[in-house]
Amino acid sequence: MSIRREYEQHGVAGYYQQFGAAYRNPHELAVRRALRAAVAAWAPDLTCVLDLACGSGEATLALRAAGAAQVAGIDPYTAAAYAERTGRPAETFTFEAIAAGALDGRAYSLIVCSYALHLLAPSRLPRLAYQLSRLAPALWVLTPHQRPHLRPAWGWALAGELREARVRVRRYAAAAPPVEKQ
Ligand SMILES: C[S@@+](CC[C@H](N)C(=O)[O-])C[C@H]1O[C@@H](n2cnc3c(N)ncnc32)[C@H](O)[C@@H]1O
Repeated sequence: MSIRREYEQHGVAGYYQQFGAAYRNPHELAVRRALRAAVAAWAPDLTCVLDLACGSGEATLALRAAGAAQVAGIDPYTAAAYAERTGRPAETFTFEAIAAGALDGRAYSLIVCSYALHLLAPSRLPRLAYQLSRLAPALWVLTPHQRPHLRPAWGWALAGELREARVRVRRYAAAAPPVEKQ
């Protein structure tokens, strides 16, 4: 059954609650190639990366191979699959908890969110995006779809995009906070 049909049948959360421990991305090779191309093109700061909605470590493993010193994974449903493949535990915050400030006070050099942000209800995206903009200066969104697009009003400005096969990597820079008038 296609993943879209699975989501329709179980709901996104229900699907990953049931099958998350065995999750694998069938497009992992394309994700890996896209991230390798993005690192080569944009030379990001890879000292402290967050792999948000990390699945079984598709982006984490690719980023490690590209030279990332430290990659932390967060995913509410796939911690077992992530630990099995990366040898590291994942934290289990949801997008909704992060949107409500669960990661306040942390700092990452880069946040990568691969094949996941389009799963969030559009109405919840602005708040999550804003909270993420307080945690890192850069965000990469990998998606096989047109959406999602983040906006400066939500804390992120589009700074680049590349495409590797069906995978788009959108690079966002945290928008500077508005200057206060005297
Ligand atoms: C298609 S998978 C992508 C996983 C991995 N990043 C990759 O590139 O293959 C979507 C991921 O989003 C996670 N997810 C689903 N709903 C979520 C939510 N509300 N908050 C955070 N993560 C969620 C799932 O557990 C799953 O690992």
